[in-house]
Amino acid sequence: MQRMKIGLCGLGTVGAGVVKILQNHQKELHHQTGCELEIMKILVNDIHKKRNVQVDPDLLTTSSDDIVENEEIQIVIEVMGGIDEAYHLVKRSLENGKHVVTANKDMLAEYGLELTELAREKGLDMFYEASVAGGIPILRSLKEGLVSDRLHKLMGIVNGTTNYILTKMDEDERGFEDVLAEAQELGYAEADPSSDVDGLDAARKIALLARLAFSMPVELDDVEVRGIRKISTEDMKLADQFGYKMKLIGLAARDEDKVEVSVEPVLLKKDHPLTSVKNEYNAVYVYGDAVGETMFYGPGAGSLPTAVAVVSDLVGVVKNMVLGVNGTSYVIPQYAKQLKAKEE
Ligand code: NAP
Ligand code: HSE
Repeated sequence: MQRMKIGLCGLGTVGAGVVKILQNHQKELHHQTGCELEIMKILVNDIHKKRNVQVDPDLLTTSSDDIVENEEIQIVIEVMGGIDEAYHLVKRSLENGKHVVTANKDMLAEYGLELTELAREKGLDMFYEASVAGGIPILRSLKEGLVSDRLHKLMGIVNGTTNYILTKMDEDERGFEDVLAEAQELGYAEADPSSDVDGLDAARKIALLARLAFSMPVELDDVEVRGIRKISTEDMKLADQFGYKMKLIGLAARDEDKVEVSVEPVLLKKDHPLTSVKNEYNAVYVYGDAVGETMFYGPGAGSLPTAVAVVSDLVGVVKNMVLGVNGTSYVIPQYAKQLKAKEE
C-alpha cells in the first residue's frame, strides 16, 4: 500500500485532534484514500510537555527544518498558529514541493492570497477548510456546492468563543471573565483571546469567506470590527426583557463591485434562527441569486470537530496525489491577477 508521509506542525488542541482522528479512523481513511497516512515528524515548542494524546516521543522536534527540509515528507499540516513563523513555514514547505493543509486564519487573512497563488504556480494543493467555522465544511460549499451561483450576502456567527461567552452570560448570568476562562480551558479560544473577544478572529473569517464567495480582494482592513468586551449581563437581561438576544454577527454584502464587511454585536429578535445557535456552535447564512437562502450550522471550535476539517483536507490532498491532479487549491483568479500586477 502506498504510504503518504506527513509533517504535523503543532500538537495542541487541533494537532492532538488530528493525531486522534488519524489513529481512530484508520479503516475509514484507508478506504477513502487507498493509502497509509503516516506522521513522520511533529513540530512543537516543548518536547517534554505532557500531552493528552499518545505519540511516539521520537517523532517530536522543535526544528521546523526537520519537516520543511525533509525530502520524504510530502504533506505539511500547519496547526501551530501565529502569523509570521507559520507564514515562513508554509511558504518554505510550498517552495520545497510539499502540499499544505492549514487551520490558520490569522496567517491566511494576511498572506493567504500570496500563498494560494504560490501553491497554484507550483501545482500543489493548499487547503484550509478548518480556518473558518471549525467543523462546518463552508469553504468547500462556497467553492464547489454553490460555485455556479452569484452569491451576494453572507451573514452569521463565525466565532465559537464569543458565542460561548454570550450564551453563558445570558443563560447562566455568569460574568464575562469567568466564561472566557472556561472557553480557554475547553480549547475554543485563540492563544491570545483578545482576538476572539475584540472581533478580530471573526473579521479574519468573514474576510476569507467574502473572498471566496464573491471572488473579490477583501482585506482585513475592509472589515469594520466591534467586539463583545463592553457587553454586560445587565445589557443582556434588558435585551431579553424587550424580546431580543445579543449575538456577534459577521456580515459581508456585495453590491456590484463594492463589498461591505462588518463584525459587530447585534440584537436579534428571539425568534430569529441565529438566536438558537448556542455555545461554541457557528452558523452562516449564504444568499445567492439562484439558490436563495442556505444555512450552514455546526461546531465552530474545539479539538475533534476542527480536526475533522483538517483531516478531510488531508484526504483531499492524498486523493489528488493518487490521481495526479494537485494544484486545485481555492485560488481567487481575479485577485491573483491584481496581486501580480501590483508586484510588477
Ligand atoms: P494550541 O493549542 O495553542 O497549539 C499550538 C501548538 O503548536 C502547540 O503544540 C505548540 O507547541 C505548537 N507551536 C506553536 N508555536 C510554535 C512554534 N513557533 N514552533 C513550534 N511549535 C509551535 O493552538 P490550537 O488551538 O490547536 O490552534 C492551532 C491553529 O488552529 C491556530 O491557527 C488556530 O487559530 C486554529 N484553529 C483553532 C481552533 C480551535 O478550536 N482551537 C479551531 C479552528 C482553527 P507546544 O504544545 O509545545 O507549546
Ligand atoms: N477561537 C476560534 C473560535 C477557534 O472561537 O471560533 C475556531 O476558529
